[in-house]
Amino acid sequence: MATSILLLNGPNLNLLGTRQPEIYGRETLADVEKRCVEHGRKLGLKVVCRQSNSEGELVTWVQQARGKFAGIVLNAGAYTHTSVALMDAISSAEMAVIEVHLSNIHQRETFRHLSYISKVSVGMICGLGSQGYDLALEAFAKRLKAKPAK
Ligand code: DQA
Repeated sequence: MATSILLLNGPNLNLLGTRQPEIYGRETLADVEKRCVEHGRKLGLKVVCRQSNSEGELVTWVQQARGKFAGIVLNAGAYTHTSVALMDAISSAEMAVIEVHLSNIHQRETFRHLSYISKVSVGMICGLGSQGYDLALEAFAKRLKAKPAK
C-alpha cells in the first residue's frame, strides 16, 4: 500500500493562477495538485490535497493527520508568519512537515522573514515556484525509504 502524504495549502492559495502571477506564477492550485498527485504516484506516495483559508481548519487537519499520514507538505501562506496555533499543532502531532513557499520569503518584506512553521518543520523550500512541492515529495520519498513510517 502506498504511503500517504498530506499536501496542505493555506489562505489565498486557492487563488493561484490569478493572484499576483508575477510572484506566484500562472498555474492554478488544481494544476499544481494534479501534478503533485501524479508525481507522488511515481514516487510510491499517495498524495491527498487540501486547501483552506481558515487557520482553525488547518489546525484540525494537522491534528487529524496523526497516524494517517507519514508527513505533510505545508504551504501555510500568511499563517506561516503569524500562527503559533499551527506551529503547536505540528509539534503536538509529532508530524514530519516539509514547508514550501512559492516565493523566496527572505527576499520579500521583513514580516515574511519569520516563519513559525520553520521552527517545527524538517526543512523548508522557498523561491522555486511550484517545483518546491515536487521537491518536498521527493524528499519525503527518500526519507521514508531510509526510515519507513511506523
Ligand atoms: C507564500 C508566502 C507568504 O508570505 C504569503 O503570505 C503567501 C504565499 C508563498 O508560497 O510564497 O500566501 O507562502
